[in-house]
Amino acid sequence: MGNYEKEINRRRTFAIISHPDAGKTTLTEKFLLYGGAINLAGSVKGKATARHAVSDWMEIEKERGISVTSSVLQFEYDNFCINILDTPGHQDFSEDTYRTLMAADSAVMVIDASKGVEAQTRKLFKVCVMRKIPIFTFINKMDRDANDTFELLDEIEKELGIATCPVNWPIGSGKNFKGVYDRKKKQVITYSDTKKGTKEGETNVISVSDEDKLISFIGQENKEVLLDEIELLDGASADFDLNEVQKGELTPVFFGSALTNFGVEIFLKHFLEMTTTPLPRRAGEAMIAPAEHEFSAFVFKIQANMNKAHRDRIAFMRICSGKFEAGMEVRHVQGNKLMRLSQPQQIMANDRKIVEEAYGGDIIGVFDPGVFSIGDTICMPNENFAYEGIPTFAPEHFARVRQVDTMKRKQFVKGITQIAQEGAIQIFQEFHTGMEEIIVGVVGVLQFDVLKYRLENEYNVEIKMENLPYEHIRWIENKEIDLDKLTGTSDMKKVKDLKGNPLLLFVNAWSVGMTLDRNEGLILSEFGKE
Ligand code: G4P
Repeated sequence: MGNYEKEINRRRTFAIISHPDAGKTTLTEKFLLYGGAINLAGSVKGKATARHAVSDWMEIEKERGISVTSSVLQFEYDNFCINILDTPGHQDFSEDTYRTLMAADSAVMVIDASKGVEAQTRKLFKVCVMRKIPIFTFINKMDRDANDTFELLDEIEKELGIATCPVNWPIGSGKNFKGVYDRKKKQVITYSDTKKGTKEGETNVISVSDEDKLISFIGQENKEVLLDEIELLDGASADFDLNEVQKGELTPVFFGSALTNFGVEIFLKHFLEMTTTPLPRRAGEAMIAPAEHEFSAFVFKIQANMNKAHRDRIAFMRICSGKFEAGMEVRHVQGNKLMRLSQPQQIMANDRKIVEEAYGGDIIGVFDPGVFSIGDTICMPNENFAYEGIPTFAPEHFARVRQVDTMKRKQFVKGITQIAQEGAIQIFQEFHTGMEEIIVGVVGVLQFDVLKYRLENEYNVEIKMENLPYEHIRWIENKEIDLDKLTGTSDMKKVKDLKGNPLLLFVNAWSVGMTLDRNEGLILSEFGKE
């Protein structure tokens, strides 16, 4: 065992998932504030804007005022070293958002108390469930009028299929928000929004048995409602079971207001106690334990052309085990080459910095001269194993793409194939033809703009896109199925992906069900295999 055990065990690496506007950025800022990584809330957004200046094609995202790029933030709190993986928050999110979840050991789900479970949360949640990682719920914006608390929990259970266990319970909402009740300690922490933008500090804590004091802070009516709700809750809700939390079957639920900085530190403390240290990862038959193995990592995201002049790419890798030291020699398994990772950098709250050392659980970005692919494994020179690949996630928008100038066929195919290999888009072909017709699938429509922009600017190819009506894609899991004999619906299209895997495109969900009914034994999957 290496001396890196202590460092690894104090790491907590998680992603924040939410629907846009639920308060993910605000919550992240408050976390950083507690960690002392920033002094003033508001810096996270400011930094994102500054970073947009870095590259040209990111002008697109700047114009739309959104961020395509998911970033990683590291900060220290209470002797924990915390890595937050930020998932792009706009509806036009991309596969990168999903891939980011592959690098996390747990997820924090932020829900707007007046909106409940929304579309993007639902999608991201599916990936967390697939990975069976612990999921923590922060119900935000309690300073605004919120939905009924029981209904919110019910919605999470029904819509997402995960049991809930409230760790604390809100008292009122909006103008009547009085604070939260800590179920374990049986005490009320009263709300105050006077400390906006600063650390929570000492909040007022009242034991529920101290009736007079409680009434003076929250009022008679709130007190009665609270006691009734506690009784109901204690009778009805799932018991807290850390084991179930860690398997991703039970989500601990917290209430608060990120904007007014209430309930955030309470959440952070509980979260750090309940969440997991860096998880072991599967490589073939073996499970690689982070603290018991020398350096290894896998690439989960490649960011192209941060600087157009240099055509450079940054490969983001999640360190799975051991200790990384700048300049060390490593093996790139898929490339079958020994190499040194160049310009390793870590993105801190305030800036990028060159990393001298990093440990299992950390994320580093390295300069990529075009050798890495998503899912690749890096390990020590004397070893040779590959981590399980990253699945391909279902695109939801499709377009037929062709080049305007037929003389540029070669550049067109090269460009679109390279961009697809980077994982920025997915490309499909008619099942029986070659590259005559290319269908592009993306998770977020913004990726179409990025594709057009990059083909024009980097490959000098102008393209025309024709939107296709497909919204559902399914990979065919059982390879023995004869595609020609498959009977689907009239809207169904048979295509193959870059690796030749067969799949089906459908206009609506009904057709997916119909096709399954009509073909006995057919197994369809929303995730493509590597
Ligand atoms: P996101 O990253 O999930 O997209 O959400 P973000 O934190 O940017 O928050 C979206 C909006 O909701 C912001 O307002 C933010 O101030 C507000 N917000 C976040 N948390 C809370 C909360 O606990 N209570 C209330 N009342 N509002 C909250 P905005 O006006 O869109 O942006 P800004 O101008 O304030 O930055």
